[in-house]
Formats: sequence, C-alpha cells, structure tokens
Amino acid sequence: MANKINTIGILTSGGDAPGMNAAIRAVVRKAISNGVKVKGIKKGYQGLLNEEIVDMDARSVSDTIQRGGTILGTARCMEFKTEAGQQKGADICHKHGIEGLVVIGGDGSYRGAQALSRHGINTIGIPGTIDLDIACTDYTIGFDTAVNTAMQAIDKVRDTSSSHERCSIIEVMGRNAGYIALWCGVANGAEDILLPEKYDYNEQEIINNIIRNRKKGKTHHLIINAEGIGHSTSMARRIEAATGIETRATILGYMQRGGSPTCKDRYYASIMGAYAADILCAGSTNRVVGYRHGEFVDFDIEDALAMQKEIPEYEFQISKLLSL
Ligand code: ADP
Ligand code: F6P
Repeated sequence: MANKINTIGILTSGGDAPGMNAAIRAVVRKAISNGVKVKGIKKGYQGLLNEEIVDMDARSVSDTIQRGGTILGTARCMEFKTEAGQQKGADICHKHGIEGLVVIGGDGSYRGAQALSRHGINTIGIPGTIDLDIACTDYTIGFDTAVNTAMQAIDKVRDTSSSHERCSIIEVMGRNAGYIALWCGVANGAEDILLPEKYDYNEQEIINNIIRNRKKGKTHHLIINAEGIGHSTSMARRIEAATGIETRATILGYMQRGGSPTCKDRYYASIMGAYAADILCAGSTNRVVGYRHGEFVDFDIEDALAMQKEIPEYEFQISKLLSL
C-alpha cells in the first residue's frame, strides 16, 4: 500500500510498562520497511515540548526486545494538557517534519494524541500499561509481566506466612482498577481479594473469614488488596487486633513495573507496534490499536475513551469460591 506520510515520530507516555521496547522496536522496523523515516521523542509529551527528538534506524532498537522500561524514557506532562502546550507540540512536530505519531501509553496519553490529531498531526495509540484498564482492548502491554512478577513475589510471602501462621495483606498496583489484584488473587489462591470495583469496605466480613478459616485448619490467610483500596498497613493493624492473629502488610510497589517482559508481552507488543506503524503510514489518524476477541483491531480514540470496562462477574464469583 502507498504511504500517505514520509516521517513518523514515536513516544512513550505515562507509567512505563515491560514490553514497551518491543512495541517501539516493531514500530521503528515496520515503518522503515514501509519506506518511512522514524524519529524517537524522549520522555513523552514533556520531551516533545523540550524538542528531545532523535533520528531512529533499525539499529537504534537492537538488543532492546528483552529489556524492561522504555528506551525512550517516559514522563507525565501537565503543560501538554493545555491548549497552548498542544499547539506548541504540533508546531514542533511540523518543524521536525513529523507528520504522524505513535503514542504508547494509557487513556491519558490518548487524550494527548487526540489533541495532536486535532492540530493536524496523525496519531495512533498503543495500549501500554500494567493496569489492564483500557476498555477497548482485552490486552495491554506490561500486564502479563506485572502479574507474573507479582505472583512470584506473593508465592514467597505465602511461604513465610504459612511458616509463621500469619495473615498477610499484599497490596498490588493498578491505580483505580482491580485487574492485577484479581489475576494474582486467583493465581496465588488468596483467601480474600479486595478490588476497588467490588469491595464494600465491610472489614468485619474479612475478619470473620479469617477466624472461620483458622478453625478449618488453614495455617495462613492471604489477602490481595488493590492499590485503589490501599491502606494495607492500617488494615493489618485492625485485623490483628480483632483476630489475635499476627498480620503483616507487604506493598509490592514499583517492582511490578520493571523487569524483562514475558513472551506474551513481547509478542503482543510486537504485533501491535507493527499494526500501528502500518495504519499510520497508510494515513489513519486518531486511532488506538487493541486486541479484542482474538484479533488485532483499531478504534477511533473518541469511541475508545467512551467505552467502559468492568470486572467480569463470573470471574469475580469464581475468585471467591476457589479459596474455600
Ligand atoms: P496514562 O497515559 O498511563 O493514562 P496519564 O494519565 O498520566 O497516564 O497521562 C500521561 C500524559 O498524557 C500526561 O502526563 C499528559 O502529558 C498527557 N495527557 C493526559 N491527559 C491529557 C489531556 N486531557 N489532554 C492532553 N494530554 C493529556
Ligand atoms: O499506571 C501504572 C501505575 O503503576 C499504576 O498502577 C500506579 O497507580 C501508577 O502507575 C503509579 O504512578 P507513578 O509512577 O506516577 O507513581
């Protein structure tokens, strides 16, 4: 297919996620193979406003597919939320001959991409976040690595929790979404899983569950608490006081965002990156790439942002039942 543009840019924005490098690599190499030049923009929209722009070739992304983080760097940029910041960003793109831009990030980053599209720069978003909280896609880059990292860490806490017959509250990331908590809760066989979308703050129910389980002979009690609920340390203190069972809180934190991406993250990121490069080179704009019902697809950013995502009820019910 004939290219509609000659030069594209690429940036990563918002929180980093393992697999972003695989996506960058795929965008760069697919665009080059389409005969389109690529410029890398450092540190998200902040780097665009600072004109931190470098030429990229196939070798710029060598030896990156296995690396966590993002080789381009990332940032959150308040100035880009303003009309003046967006106009400045578009002017800088024009100055550097950047006619199209791939933005790897979450919902916030797509709003920035949407704004640039309004200012005449073609934009395509790729879902990059460990939180899995983007409604238009069943998969986001980094989630698989993050849940595997968290799952392995939680297994370790479980060992010591059992030895000491303690209750453990483990807080996982996810901002306001409970997907990391749900997946780890099921995969780690947690007794309680607290999701922002479902938790009714009835701590007494958790306390009753701990006491019931102890009577049944369970030697530990694992509670996976989502970041969106938080307060794990004070929760542990209250639970210990109410049950008489030693209770410890562990907040996993940023370790969940780092590390070498899993095969799944590398694979999906690679295909999404290539897909984004193809539709951008062919002239699409204001679109976001997704993976839905077994297929790689793309949506209008406006439509994508209007979509809602919910914790599947059946999966939530099963997550509670399996810890009987
Ligand atoms: P994510 O992309 O992971 O959702 P953020 O919400 O922090 O992360 O957004 C990343 C960046 O995208 C912000 O720092 C800002 O530069 C840009 N951004 C966010 N919201 C908007 C908006 N409404 N308009 C323009 N740019 C935005
Ligand atoms: O969006 C990814 C994420 O790690 C969330 O899970 C978390 O709430 C947030 O980013 C933390 O962001 P920051 O890096 O700004 O502390």
